[in-house]
Amino acid sequence: MCGIVGYIGKANAKEIIVEGLRRLEYRGYDSAGIALYRNGKIETRKHVGELKNLEKIIADPEYDSYMGIGHTRWATHGVPSDINAHPHSNSDNTITVVHNGIIENFLELRRMLEEEHNVVFRSDTDTEVIAHLISLYYDGDLHEAVNKAVAKMRGAYAIAVICASEPDKIIGVRKDAPLVAGIGEGCNFLASDIPAFLRYVRRVIFLENNETVVVTREKITIYDENNEQVEREPYHVDWDVDAAEKGGYPFFMMKEIHEQPKALADTLKRRLDENGDIVLDGISLAREDIDRLSRIYIVACGTAYHAGLVGKYVIEKMTRIPVEVDVASEFRYRDPYVDENTLFIAISQSGETQDTLAALREAKGKGARILSVVNVVGSSVARESDDVFYTWAGPEIAVASTKAYVTQLMCMYMIGLYMGRLKGTLAEADYHDTIRELLAVPDKLAAFLEDDTQIKNLAKRFYRRNEMFYIGRGLDSTVAYEGSLKMKEISYINTFAIAAGELKHGTIALVEEGTLFITLATQDKLFEKMLSNIEEIRARGAYVVAVAKEGNREIETKADEVIYIPSCPDDLTPLLSVVPLQLFAYHVADARKNNIDKPRNLAKSVTVE
Ligand code: AGP
Repeated sequence: MCGIVGYIGKANAKEIIVEGLRRLEYRGYDSAGIALYRNGKIETRKHVGELKNLEKIIADPEYDSYMGIGHTRWATHGVPSDINAHPHSNSDNTITVVHNGIIENFLELRRMLEEEHNVVFRSDTDTEVIAHLISLYYDGDLHEAVNKAVAKMRGAYAIAVICASEPDKIIGVRKDAPLVAGIGEGCNFLASDIPAFLRYVRRVIFLENNETVVVTREKITIYDENNEQVEREPYHVDWDVDAAEKGGYPFFMMKEIHEQPKALADTLKRRLDENGDIVLDGISLAREDIDRLSRIYIVACGTAYHAGLVGKYVIEKMTRIPVEVDVASEFRYRDPYVDENTLFIAISQSGETQDTLAALREAKGKGARILSVVNVVGSSVARESDDVFYTWAGPEIAVASTKAYVTQLMCMYMIGLYMGRLKGTLAEADYHDTIRELLAVPDKLAAFLEDDTQIKNLAKRFYRRNEMFYIGRGLDSTVAYEGSLKMKEISYINTFAIAAGELKHGTIALVEEGTLFITLATQDKLFEKMLSNIEEIRARGAYVVAVAKEGNREIETKADEVIYIPSCPDDLTPLLSVVPLQLFAYHVADARKNNIDKPRNLAKSVTVE
């Protein structure tokens, strides 16, 4: 995710800002930049790639100031490049902006600026729109111009702005993306995240949504959305830098689990217009393209493959086009039947997984159209695809994938909904009902995440186990696979997942007194069948922990313990039911004192065959 750092004081702003950017490196980025106020002008320098690339071009001692802003970018609009890196400025470089998040109506604003005000854009970013918009409203009062610009902007973002005519201040705005001010002695800071300035100050002020902050050398003044001044007590930060990077969580995995509601909301809401229509930016799948398709392959590895399994259920159901899912390492060597009427969907968090890339090339070579679902903008999978559907999960640092998985699921639903509606195989009412239910998921998930005591207690009881079984039917079976993988990779416990109906064909022979079964029972239409499966294994001594929908109390008569997830339609439960399994794996691994973020033998991105 992008990082913002701003400093105004008496010291060397360049060094302080670069140090702040370094402290935000853990969040992941693809380019970095800095803008300093110097000799009546704003001078911006930026570079694609690592921070050291930027450091080389700002090394000259004359490039210095007492104030400025810096940024590490995680690309969303426009590929990673020098031009697209932040900061961005208006046409005469007098107003400069750094920005985290996305401006949803940037195309509309860009068109207005180009057509009505002859603005010439230099980059592909949504951020540049902000600089030109503020410039349009600027009439000697930066604060007022920022307020006017913000009133026109839709989306979730945090920004920091400086102006050559008002070099005594940095203005920040927070809307659904974090922004925090740091209070120093004769200096003040603004950043997207506390670690950026924790080396210098410990007193911070957290901005609330829709607030604007004016940061000068002497004071920090907050304004609410009605432009009324707001008083706020500073907060004293006593965490160390390491804990601060993880947002106070002991491991990135837990931080990322808690980021899931936001990641889901970002992936969905930014692609919905005011009528609830899905707007697939940059993807040109027209009705005729969809009508031509005779089959869809979804190909991926590991967790991304499990997301593909959900994709098969939902895309096939909504489009009535046959969908096959394959692990990439198998697909590439089995001479699959692919032709120009095939849509090949590659799913990959990193976009660099060698097997997925090779499978994609295989399908492309045979004439398939390639649509990828990728988290890292500009990655190899994204670059080699015809169309890219980005998951907006932000950088995922823990090896065990969590927020990337749920956003991949969200993309599966959106692809199904979009294609099914266009093809006419999905009724309008069903489309709108599903969108409404999807929109409700982030809040339901946030509520679920408020208390994990039950799961923690379960982990305390079972962390010494050598084996665990995961079962489910229908979509629940796909979540069982993912829950089992999560447990395996971070706890090193031998887990086994199987579709519940398959148990009796062999695996049930393994059940004995006390065997632990994590049993997903969230599918209303398969509920009775699942109860029978639970009876089968309990009769042989299994201990059953069930995951079921809130309100479904009947399960308590069959299972030993029940974890309730918020209620939602059957087709959407994977978005919620995977979370208790992620938490269970996390707490078991924690109880076993494992290095949760970096499990043994695993790498975040598997770039070898
Ligand atoms: C997930 O927890 C794993 N670390 C792994 O299975 C991962 O999903 C797989 O290697 C695919 O990676 P990708 O999404 O970056 O292609």
